[in-house]
Amino acid sequence: MKQSLVGLVVFGLVAFAQAAPFVDAMRGPTPITATTAPPRLGNQVNDDHRLKRNYSHQPPVIPHRIDGYQVDKNFNKCLDCHAREKTAFSQASPVSETHYMDRKGAVLRHISTRRYFCKQCHVAQENVPLLVGNGFRGDPADAAPATKK
Ligand code: HEC
Ligand code: HEC
Repeated sequence: MKQSLVGLVVFGLVAFAQAAPFVDAMRGPTPITATTAPPRLGNQVNDDHRLKRNYSHQPPVIPHRIDGYQVDKNFNKCLDCHAREKTAFSQASPVSETHYMDRKGAVLRHISTRRYFCKQCHVAQENVPLLVGNGFRGDPADAAPATKK
C-alpha cells in the first residue's frame, strides 16, 4: 500500500513536470546541459551623472564607460582620476576616506589594498531591459546624498 502511494506521487510529479516544463527566465529554453550566449553589451551609460544610492554604504554605480581601463598590479586607471591628489584636475569625486583605511581602521597614505580592485564593488551601467522582475525599493531616508554636485 505504502509503495503504491509513493509510486502514485512520483508518477504525479513526472506528469506535472512534463505538462509544465520549468523555464528559467534567465536561461530561456536553453537546456541545462548547454551554455547560454551572454547578451552583447556595448552601450554603457556615459553621462557622468552620479546616481542616487539606494541604501547607506551602497557602493555607488559608475556613470561612465570603463571598457579598456587597466586595473592590475602595475597600474590603476581609476585612480588616475579618482585618487585624492588627482581630482582637482579630473573633476571626478575623490574616493572616500574608507578607501584609505586598513582593516583595523587606520587611515593610510595610499589606497588600501582592500579597495584597490574597484570593480569588485563598483559597476558600470547599461540600459537594458530587466531579465527578471524586481520589486526592490531603496530606502530614500537611508540613501546617502551624493557629496558633490
Ligand atoms: C577620465 C577620468 C575618470 C576615470 C579614468 C574614471 N572615472 Fe569614475 N568618474 C569620473 C567622473 C568625471 C565622474 C562623475 C562625476 C563625479 O564623480 O563627481 C565619475 C564618477 C564615478 C563614480 C560615481 C561616484 C558617485 O558618488 O556616484 C564611480 C563609482 C566611479 N566613477 C568609479 C570609477 C571606477 C571604478 C573607475 C575605473 C574602472 C573610474 N571611475 C575611472 C571620472 C573618471
Ligand atoms: C570593497 C568594496 C569597494 C572597493 C574595492 C572600492 N570601493 Fe569605492 N566605495 C565603496 C562603498 C561601500 C562606497 C560608499 C561608502 C563609502 O564611501 O565608503 C564607495 C564610494 C566610492 C566613491 C564615492 C565617494 C564619495 O565621497 O561619494 C567613489 C568615487 C569610489 N568609491 C571609487 C572607487 C575607486 C576608484 C575604487 C578603486 C580604486 C574603489 N572605489 C574601490 C566600496 C568599494
